[in-house]
This record gives sequence, C-alpha cells and structure tokens, in this order.
Amino acid sequence: MIEYKNGIFLLRSENISLLLRVSPQGLLEQLHFGAPVDIEDAQAFALQPGIGWGSMVLLEEGKTESCPDVVGLAWSGSGRGDYRESPLELSGVSTDLRYQSHRILDAMPPAASGLPLAAGEGQILEITLAQPGLQLQLYFRILGDVLLRRAVVSNTGDGTVRLGKIMSMMMDLPGSYEMTTFDGSWIAEMRKHTVPVLDSRVVNESVTGFSSHRHNPGFLLSMPGAGEDHGRVYGFNLIYSGNHYAAAQRSFQGLTRVMQGISPAEFSRELQPGESFETPEAVMTFSDRGFGGVSEQMHHFVNHHIIPAYWQGRMRPVLYNDWEGCMFDFNQHRLLGLAKKARELGCELFVLDDGWFGNRNSDTAGLGDYTVNKKKLPGGLRGLSDRIHALGMEFGLWFEPESVNMDSDLYRAHPDWALTDQFQPLLSRHQLLLDLTKPQVRDYIVENVSAILDSAGISYVKWDMNRHSIALGAKAHDYILGLYEVLRRIFDPRPQILLESCASGGNRFDLGMLCFSPQIWCSDDTDPVERVTIQENLSYLYPQSTFGAHVSAAPHAQTLRSTPLTTRGNVSFFGVLGYELDLNHLLPVEEKEIKTQTALYKRWRKAFQFGTFRRLENGWQVSDGRVTVAGIFHGQRSAAPGYEYLRVKALEPGKRYTLHSREQTLRVGQFGSLVKHVAPVELNPNGIVLRTADRFVTLPDGVQTCTASGNALMAGIPLLPAFRGTGYDKNQRTQLDFGSNLYIIEEETKHE
Ligand code: GLA
Repeated sequence: MIEYKNGIFLLRSENISLLLRVSPQGLLEQLHFGAPVDIEDAQAFALQPGIGWGSMVLLEEGKTESCPDVVGLAWSGSGRGDYRESPLELSGVSTDLRYQSHRILDAMPPAASGLPLAAGEGQILEITLAQPGLQLQLYFRILGDVLLRRAVVSNTGDGTVRLGKIMSMMMDLPGSYEMTTFDGSWIAEMRKHTVPVLDSRVVNESVTGFSSHRHNPGFLLSMPGAGEDHGRVYGFNLIYSGNHYAAAQRSFQGLTRVMQGISPAEFSRELQPGESFETPEAVMTFSDRGFGGVSEQMHHFVNHHIIPAYWQGRMRPVLYNDWEGCMFDFNQHRLLGLAKKARELGCELFVLDDGWFGNRNSDTAGLGDYTVNKKKLPGGLRGLSDRIHALGMEFGLWFEPESVNMDSDLYRAHPDWALTDQFQPLLSRHQLLLDLTKPQVRDYIVENVSAILDSAGISYVKWDMNRHSIALGAKAHDYILGLYEVLRRIFDPRPQILLESCASGGNRFDLGMLCFSPQIWCSDDTDPVERVTIQENLSYLYPQSTFGAHVSAAPHAQTLRSTPLTTRGNVSFFGVLGYELDLNHLLPVEEKEIKTQTALYKRWRKAFQFGTFRRLENGWQVSDGRVTVAGIFHGQRSAAPGYEYLRVKALEPGKRYTLHSREQTLRVGQFGSLVKHVAPVELNPNGIVLRTADRFVTLPDGVQTCTASGNALMAGIPLLPAFRGTGYDKNQRTQLDFGSNLYIIEEETKHE
C-alpha cells in the first residue's frame, strides 16, 4: 500500500513501513523505516536540530533543519552540506539533487539494461530528484514484507556526465547498530562476523568481479542485544551477481547511514546527453522479532518474488551427482551402473558433472568445447540420457559456459574471446573467463548450450563458474549484464529445466543468480560439520529451497573427517537433498541407511524444501502445515554429557502433538574391541567376523516417542540420555562425535 499526503509518502505492509517526507528545501527525508506506522506519524518522527551544532552548512540561512548533514535522508548529495558518505559520485563535481516530482505507478518500468528485478504485483513509488543537467529516479516498492529500491540516473544536460559511483539505495537509521556480514573463501563460505558500527565506516564489498564467497552481498544490522527471537534487526541484500558494496557509519548526531549497490571500486560510466544508467534492485526488511523474523521475511520474499515462477513451490528431485565419485574418470558403463544404484537408493535425477566434452580429462583442457567425448560416451549424450530415462530417472548435465581453457579448440580459434588485460594472461584453475561483453561470445554460448539441451532430454543444468575475474575494470558490470542475457536467452524458453548455479561452490550465491536458478550449490565442502555452519549462515538471508545439499563420502575429501552417515543425511535434509559419492563402495548397511534417508526426505519433502525454517539453540526446524521436523546437531561428545533439551518454535500452544525420532541405527563395527562386553564370545575387532557383521548388522539407536502440548514442546522437553560410558541401550542416544537426531512432530489425530 502506498499513501501520499502533503509531501509525505508512506509505504506499508503487515510488518514494515517506510515513511518519507520532502523537506521545504526539496531534500528527500527518511522519517522512518521499520515497524508499520501511519502517515499521521510523520510529524512525530521529524528530527529537531534545535539550535544546531557547530560547522553546519545550511541550505537556507537561519534554519538548522535545512542542514543536510544532520537530518535523516533517503538520498544525499555530496559537497553541498552533507559530509557523510554520498551514494552518488560524479567525477569532480558536487551533487545537489532536490525533489522534482513523483508518480505512483501500477507496474515497474522494465529494466532496460536487462538487470533482473523481483517479480510481483503492486504499486511503485517513483520519486524524481533533479539538479541542472542531471535527473535521478528513485523507485520504492514493497513485496511481502520486503522493501525494494533502485535508482536510475539520467544525463539531462548537454555535456558528458562521468559516473564514479551510484548506489541502489541509501538510508539513515536512527541509533547504533551491529553489522553482521558473511565472509569466506572456497570450501569455507558464509563465516558470520559481527562488528559494531560506530563512527568509522564499516564496509562489506566484493571486487572479484562476482558477488563472491569472500563477502556475500547480504548483511544484517541489529540493535545491540537483539537475539534470534527478539530485538530489532534489519536485513539487506542486492539482486546482483557482480562487484557489490555496502557501508554503514554512525554520524555524530547518532544516525546510521547505510547504503548498498554496485562497488565503485571497479566502476565508471560515461553518460552522454540523454543516456541513463540503472542500478540493480536493493532489498531490505525489518523485524522486531530478531534475526529469526528477518530470515522468515527474506525467505518468503525469495521463494515468492525471486525464484523463477515455474519453480516457485515446485518440489525438487533428489539427485545423484557423479562428480565426487568419478571426477573425470568415467564411461557410459560406469555411469549407468551408478545411475542404476542411485535409482535403487531412491534418487530421482542423475547428474553428469564435468568431463563429458572435448578433451576434458582433467581441469587443464577442454573448457569451451561442446563436442561430446565419444570415447567416454559412444552413444553421445542422447544414448546415455535414453538409458537413464529408461531406468526411471531424469537426466541432468554440468556446464561451465563462462570459461575457457587455453588448451581448447575454442581458445585456439578465438584467443581474443578470452577476457585478458595488457599483461600475460593469468590463469586460475588453468582457465580464463570468456568476455561476455562481446555479442559473438554470448551467441556462441547460447547456441551451443541450447543445442545440447535440446538434443538429449535434459531436465536439469548445473551451471558452474570457477574463477575470479581478471582485470574486468569498467567491464565488470557489462560482464554481469552479458551473463544475465545469456541465462535469459537459454532458460526463458525452457522454464521447466531446473537450473542449479555453482561457482566453485558458493562463490556466486546471490539474489541475481537466484532469479534464474532456483537452487545454488552452497559449497564444495560437504562435510556435514562444516555444512551446519554454511547452511545455517545462508539461512539468515536465503531459504533452504535454494541450498543444493549433498551427502558425500567419509572420511571427507576436504576435511578428512569421518562423520556418521546419519548426520550427513540429517544436515542435507534441510536443503535440496542429493548424493555425491561412489555408490559402488557402499556397504549393505549404508545402502539401507540411504534408502531410509531418501524415503524419509520424500515423505516430508514439502516441509524440508519449502516449510518455514527456524534456527533453534542446537539445530534447525522446518514447519509445514501439521508437521514440524527438527534436527539437532552435535559436535564432539564429552565423556559425561548432561541433559539435553529439544525446544521447538511456533507450535500451537494448546494443541497436542506426537513426537517421534527418526529411526537411526548404529554400526556394530564402530564399537571395535568394546564389542566383547556384549558379545557372548570374544571377537577380534579387526577380524573377519566383526568386519562382516559390520557390513550387515545395525543396532537401533535413541528411539524416542511421546505426546505433548505445543506449549510443552516450546518450553523444551528432555531428550534421551546420551552415551556416558555406560554401555549400549537402545533408549539412549549412543552417538559418536558429530552425531545428530531428527524429530518429527505432528499434530495428534484424534481417534473416535
Ligand atoms: C567445481 C564445482 C564442483 C564440480 C567441479 C567440476 O569445483 O564446484 O562441484 O562441478 O567444479 O570440475
């Protein structure tokens, strides 16, 4: 809903509102962004600078409230009285944009640049600010409980305008905050860091050419003391996949200026008379229900306004990916063996990863070539996919279309298509990026990928990208626009293809990519202990339907850690489940466990993928209608653990529920020589008998069932005791290090 009265604008949803006012001098003031308020509250929110502070530059002599430096603004100029950070920089020229006009629109003007915008109906507020030779259109809208903002700057003069920086949004928020960012690296994505925002600027920025695993564009600002379920928290994100920038800084007067947009570091643009530049759309929300409230609102927004329409709420298949099992070493026979096994274990989609084309037998060659390797796949992709389909599975394929190896036919034919600078090419994973700012490069990718998709009954694509950019400079933004064009041309006509984006894992986990790909491969690190951190931190801003989450082998390739197969499953359930290991190496007990996992996941798939996700003290829960599934995850066990509780959220207080634990089992082999305490005969822990028994025999573990009211379950119920050096008992949780449990809580059905 948008209201306008006497120079005051109100945008409001159920949980948030934005109150703006045009000052007598034409500044765009932000009176409030946060809980829903009324347009009549404007006067109460207006700041009172009183007699002012020293060194003030006034727009109107004698009026302290005309000092742009001390009022809360929704956009600011530079060099004209507001000496806080400006969202707009023109090389060497100050800016002083004042209100010119506004319109309330029924539909968002499409982005001429091709930048993806959130989809959704509703009114849009367009406010035009202007100064001689320059016009700025600011767009505001609310979708769900999320505010969206973008800016379009136009050269209305007759000279060239040199744009050095333009943010998508800027706002001043009263008070002091802490800023939480999500930083990392390859196989260590989404490390959460929180720092106070005081008088020095705190910046969250990526300059690798992509949104990057170094600094995810999403961030949070929280009032000190805010917690998971209480306190005031703001969440921010950007619908963009390239270099980004966000900054927060408290002013002397106690207003915190926040802005977000394309990073100015590698950005410059010349606007000729009549030309415009448009920013990506920035996304922000507020909750006084703590971090959990922000996450819930962001999840809803992503699931309903970002994910491509065809895939909104549509169940995703359980997939098997051959990469970690085979790497480059496969042929049709091996793949079909794996597919058959994957099918038996409950997988629904078989994904052939890297290595199917050109001379791609390692990561040193072949990228850029699309000819199928007939030695590995004599019947071509069609031959393989027909057989996969005959097994009753869907077929999916890996591509890395943005890159090229120098040892490839493509590079030999078109060395100038690679993105290089004036120096020797710098390789990363033996590859260069293709220059997606060139139309012929985009055509090459679109034509080749499309032809392959249409040739072989492919219903899923993993779109990989495995390096940072090289010296993109001013091209950085055009590269991203080129990428969006390519994705649109390939996938708009084929909406039913499920696209999973990947960039060495989570090097491009952002809302821009999610506009095309409903899910993203979170990390090449599938160790469940690490994944608890990665998925939990992603969950602050992204819903679990966007997490590609796979069970892989133990010891794990990246950490050498051995973890229980149950935990690998339990963690991956809270995302889009897949398997990525050599299935031929599984023991019968492991096969049985995986069958149980896929069956359980499918039974509760809707809750796992699209249910309301909440972080708990010791794990996560998802709720959908009458069911809540909670997972709790443990680190290293101690010798004498105390009580542990399960405290779930958002049940109906007075309703009765049944709780039952997922059936988990223990392998006898894990007890080693301790088996002698329970076995009637002495057994050698390394002997054939125990080794054989370990392949087939399991013991039930931690079976817990109870009924309780919603209030009791939210107050917290004690879980079965954990192993305390006391021996085996099926009524305890005999867990190893990194064990976990899963509980299914359903509304009790009354039997008459
Ligand atoms: C990247 C991806 C992996 C896999 C390999 C293939 O590392 O993140 O999942 O696809 O490339 O080369």
